Amino acid sequence: MNPKYEPLFQSFTFPASGLQVNNRLIMAPMTTWSGHLDGTVSEAEISYYQKRSRGLGIVITAACYVHPLGQAFAGQIGAHTDDMIPSLRQLATTIQSQGAKALLQIHHGGRMSSAELLPGKQPVSASAIPAEQPGAVTPREMTEAEILQAIAAFGQATRRAIQAGFDGVEIHGANTYLIQQFFSPHANRRSDQWGGSLEKRLNFPLAVTDEVITAANQAKRPFLVGYRFSPEEIENPGITMADTLKLLETLATRKLDYLHVSTMNFWGGSLRDTNDKRSRAVMVHEQVGQRIPIMGVGGVHTPDEALQMLQSGVPLVALGRELLMEPEWVMKIQSGQETQIRTTLPKSAQTDLLIPDSLWQMLMTRTGWLPVVD
Ligand SMILES: Cc1cc2nc3c(=O)[nH]c(=O)nc-3n(C[C@H](O)[C@H](O)[C@H](O)COP(=O)(O)O)c2cc1C
Repeated sequence: MNPKYEPLFQSFTFPASGLQVNNRLIMAPMTTWSGHLDGTVSEAEISYYQKRSRGLGIVITAACYVHPLGQAFAGQIGAHTDDMIPSLRQLATTIQSQGAKALLQIHHGGRMSSAELLPGKQPVSASAIPAEQPGAVTPREMTEAEILQAIAAFGQATRRAIQAGFDGVEIHGANTYLIQQFFSPHANRRSDQWGGSLEKRLNFPLAVTDEVITAANQAKRPFLVGYRFSPEEIENPGITMADTLKLLETLATRKLDYLHVSTMNFWGGSLRDTNDKRSRAVMVHEQVGQRIPIMGVGGVHTPDEALQMLQSGVPLVALGRELLMEPEWVMKIQSGQETQIRTTLPKSAQTDLLIPDSLWQMLMTRTGWLPVVD
């Protein structure tokens, strides 16, 4: 291996849980749309994870719904009942058998849930405000009891992750889903304890975090809890960077292992003010990185790009799309073959890459996601 890449392969100990990982490289959570109808993991997904886990420090699974009203995608995996535990165990064991730690991403879609998949066919959210996108369904405002149930569901999903043998969970507080909706002045127009002011909009994300940490404390082994968030929303009103820094200040007082800054480009500037080019992720690291480890993601394809991310100060580097195209990414660096790393997706490569059918269809049809070549 070229010695300049050694920083990527230094072990890391998470300060809150004490869990140690072999290196700084993480597979970012990626939905596959390929689970069974009942929420269990399919064989195609097992093969997909098996092929990608080797060499990584951590693999974070696809978003997994914690409550039947939170399913956002067809073929999404679930952690909503105890019946899911054997299937989740198979997923955790598959990842761990390749030497990586396995984290379950726990998720509720809120107003972004898929109406036709839900009991009652209507999504729920903080308020009855649809997302600003074509065809968005108006959600039903959650009752106080439903809010408490949703918080409890995140705790229950954490317990199931522990029972299934996972090494931790990642709270999905990003990408416009329920936890973000409660924090968002766009989605949350409540005037009770769950909304109205910035402080009150913090209450749901914090209640979920506290519930998950309480559940994680029941594990009789080091068990990671991470929190993923999106720094800004483009809508008006919408989450601003100032709002996010306040959220992070508060999250930094909790025993979280890491904060995961969800961006498509780690170096990307503001969504709300295109003149502000400062990397949102670097700003986050500067604000709270000394108190809580930051995981960066977005646009890493080569080991030099991963190194550059580490050199910004963040200790953990996640890769998503690159690992779809190149499951041997880590091994190629370790064996000095980094010039052989694949950074395009040939249309003929599905079988070779063991990408499940529904995910493959998405990758082939959604423009701008991956560089698909003939
Ligand atoms: C196919 C696909 C599925 C994704 N699913 C999830 C998901 O389930 N949960 C999540 O938090 N982010 C999800 N993301 C976002 C990624 O985790 C990541 O933040 C994003 O792709 C940018 O990183 P990259 O440039 O390394 O791909 C998904 C991205 C892709 C491409």
